[in-house]
Formats: sequence, C-alpha cells, structure tokens
Amino acid sequence: MKLTWLLFSLLLVAIAAAQNEEELPLAELCDVESCQLPNCRCSSTGIPGGLRPRDTPQFVLVTFDDAINILNIETYRSTLYGRSNSNGCPAGATFYVSHQYTNYQLVNELYSNGFEIGLHSITHRTPQSFWAEADYETLKGEFADQRQMMSHFGKIPLERIQGMRMPFLQLAGNASFQVLKSSGMTFDASWPTITFTEPGLWPYTLDYASNQDCQLPPCPSASLEGVWVLPMVAWKDLNNNPCAMVDACFAPPALDDEDGWFQFISTNFERHYFNNRAPFGFYIHEWFVRTYPAVNNAFIKFLDTINNMPDVFMVNSADVINWVKNPVPVDQYKNQACPQNPPSPCLPTNCGPLSATHTQEQFWMASCNTCPNVYPWFGNPLGA
Ligand SMILES: *[C@@H]1O[C@H](CO)[C@@H](O)[C@H](O)[C@H]1NC(C)=O
Ligand SMILES: [Zn+2]
Repeated sequence: MKLTWLLFSLLLVAIAAAQNEEELPLAELCDVESCQLPNCRCSSTGIPGGLRPRDTPQFVLVTFDDAINILNIETYRSTLYGRSNSNGCPAGATFYVSHQYTNYQLVNELYSNGFEIGLHSITHRTPQSFWAEADYETLKGEFADQRQMMSHFGKIPLERIQGMRMPFLQLAGNASFQVLKSSGMTFDASWPTITFTEPGLWPYTLDYASNQDCQLPPCPSASLEGVWVLPMVAWKDLNNNPCAMVDACFAPPALDDEDGWFQFISTNFERHYFNNRAPFGFYIHEWFVRTYPAVNNAFIKFLDTINNMPDVFMVNSADVINWVKNPVPVDQYKNQACPQNPPSPCLPTNCGPLSATHTQEQFWMASCNTCPNVYPWFGNPLGA
C-alpha cells in the first residue's frame, strides 16, 4: 500500500516537472495583419494608431530603482510630489522596488501620492550572471512572490502592480517574461535598445519575434501572447556613447554644471520630441540625484519645463501601455479623466528586530500589515 503511494507521488512529481519544461512555441516573424491593438503590437518605431508626431502625446517616464526608505524618500518628496501636467492631471513616476531595507509604509506613501510601484526582485543578489541563468521557478520566487509581499506589507492592491525590471537590466531569456504572464502582470521595463533611438522604439508585445537589439543576452525568443515590452531607449552622452540609465553615462557633463546638465537632459528629450515621440525615459537611481545638487536642480528645472508643455505628459509606466493599447490623439488624451490610484491607506507598524535566514543581520521593517515572524525573504515572502 505504502509503496503504491510512493510510486504514485513520484509519478505526479514527474508530470509536474515535464509540464515546466514543456517547450514554448518559437516566436515567428511578426504578422502585421493578425497582430493588432489593443492586445498585440509588432516591435516597431511606428507611432501607435498611425498618428502623426504632432498629434502624439510625448510621454516622459521618470523611474527610480531599488529599496525605498528614509534615505531616499526626501528626494522623492522634494522633486516629485505635488507636480501636475499641463492638463491638470497629477504627474506620475514609477518605482522599481527591491525588498531588502525597504520601508513599506513609505512604499504606501508613494502609491498614495499617485505613483506606480513596480517590482525589482526580493534579493537583488549578485553576481549579475545569477540573473542571466535564472530559471522560471527562481524568477517566480523573486517576482511573483514579491508581488504578494508588496501587496501585503505595503497595502498596494495586487492588480495595481503591473510591471517589473530585472536587477542590472539582465534578461533571463524567456523565463522572466513567462513569470510576468503567469502571474497576471503586464509589462517588463528591463530591455535597453541602442539601435532604435532615433526614431525610438515604442512598446510592443512578444506574441511575435522582436527585432529589438539584445544588449544583455539571453533575450526572449518564444511567443508570449500579450506580454508587453517597454523598451529602455538609450540616451547619448557627450561623446555619443549610449547609456540606458542616466547615472551610467560614460561622458556626462561635469557633475557640478547645472546648465550643462539641463542642456544634456533637454538634448536627449528633443531626440524623442522632434521625432516619433517614443516615450522618453529618465531612468536613474536616487543616490545620484542626492549626491550631485547640480543634477538635482537641472532635473527639477527639466520637470518644471515639461510640466508646462501642452503636449508632454509625465506619467506612470502603466499609463503608457494603456495609451498604446488604445492610442488617441493628444487633443483627446489631454481631456480624458486623470488616471488615479484607488485609495488604500496604511496603518503602520514598525516590526523588529526580525531575524533573517540569509544573513546574521537583524532587520526592522515598517509594515502596513501585521508583523511577520521573521524577515521576509526568497521562499518565505510573508515572513511566516
Ligand atoms: C525560449 O524559447 C524558445 C522556444 O521554445 C527556445 O527556442 C529558446 O531556446 C528559449 N530561450 C531561452 C534562452 O530559454
Ligand atoms: Zn537595481
């Protein structure tokens, strides 16, 4: 009797393993006839809906990566809070949050101020090659579980967490996109392009083969229906070297030259604005803005400028995907109802000291929910 049970269990395990390794269909050349909005788009620099550049809203995507805590929240408060676009809608920005040292009360504060919370993994571990080699199960533990964690401790409605960015922008072939799809998320914002910058690449889906350049292989080659790629269109530094993140440009202006930095940001912006108006990314880490006051001031001056332009909109990343799915001319767009985060207030508790499984260190963690027993981590996202 016992032996039968054992054999039966082994069979179930074998079936489960086989299902995981099932080959995904290879993506075929994109067929424009059958790949139509709102749920499919070939990778292309063409403006969605065939709009003319002057009828196209110029979206600006400001994003910050990594942990959210008292070290960096002041920068976010002083540079981002209370801004509006020229149509009166609140300005957006997206935070790709990693778990360690994150204060979930402050995550909730960002959400409550209208900003978007995205995922950047639980461990953000090194080396970079870990992510290149990570398989589906690993990435499910890093991202699908992080989504539960973020929703639980930050009191963010689960369905509002729609996007992810891989640590070090390191792709993992099909695997991270499979996790995205199976966990019900919408878009990835990890994939830089240096080939499609002028004109820039617009967001597209992975139903069919992507023609985007693969800077940090492996890139996906399977057909993954309805999974959106929000390409990181590279900037050009003063020597025309491409850079995906502003703080990683090789030849930027002098770090104390505010006018030089304002000019630098504006030149990169104009490459989008005066061309096909592909979304313009300002992708940066907070420490860079905090460390260099000239950069901070130039950044604020740039935001003040675009917040006064009638056809430029600083928005959450998910808002861009929503517009691409249903592209409307700028005159119509600016009169639409403003995007909003449904209210989800936080009653904070400061939890700790919490022991961890990955290090001797003990942690304090601000939570909008009951305290965990141990510091939440990979494999135990709710800290049970
Ligand atoms: C992605 O899936 C395709 C189709 O099954 C396969 O040919 C390719 O090797 C996979 N790539 C990676 C890096 O897993
Ligand atoms: Zn990071």
